[in-house]
Amino acid sequence: MRPKVLTLTAVLTFVFVTILLARAAMPDRGTASSTERIKRGEYLVTVAACHDCHSPKADAQMTVDAKRPLSGRPVSTAPPVQATQEIRASLDLTAWAGPWGNSYAANLTPDEETGLGARYNEATFINTIRTGKKPEGESLLPPMPWTVYRNMTDDDLKAIYAYLTTLKPVKNFVRTAPAALDATR
Ligand code: HEC
Repeated sequence: MRPKVLTLTAVLTFVFVTILLARAAMPDRGTASSTERIKRGEYLVTVAACHDCHSPKADAQMTVDAKRPLSGRPVSTAPPVQATQEIRASLDLTAWAGPWGNSYAANLTPDEETGLGARYNEATFINTIRTGKKPEGESLLPPMPWTVYRNMTDDDLKAIYAYLTTLKPVKNFVRTAPAALDATR
């Protein structure tokens, strides 16, 4: 009886240690470290054109204003005149007018009051991009290309969200409506 128990213990210990060693040697593929995730998000934001619409520009060559990237339409950018037969954009591409009315590229920095801060978390961000509905239920206006971005994987959208949360918060309220709220800014 005794030798059997000892053998069993030895075998189990061996199996256990082998599993531990194997796990230690395996690269952790499932959960990318948060630094890797943020770097990937920064890369995706760069190649998916988010800056084109969401960043104020420093010059006429459309250089992103490094002091306030992704902070949305600056107050200095006037909304284009609305038209029904064409889509119009401000020179910095942050303010738009079309048959839907005016739209302003949102402040994507983590500012609690005017950015994504208080209104979004990872889950609502993914849901907004997938469904075209903001957390409050409002539809995303054109030209926000959510029908393109909804094809991104969950991992890609999580990476983008992770990167956005690392941006410097910029206080910048981009919309003119609702009027009551606007009057206070
Ligand atoms: C062609 C211009 C354009 C591009 C490119 C673009 N956006 Fe937008 N985005 C907009 C506009 C305009 C709005 C405001 C829509 C509205 O008011 O309903 C918006 C709104 C949003 C919102 C909703 C914010 C809120 O306040 O609820 C999120 C989130 C967002 N964009 C993320 C992104 C990300 C991430 C990228 C890049 C992967 C991106 N956008 C690329 C134009 C753009």
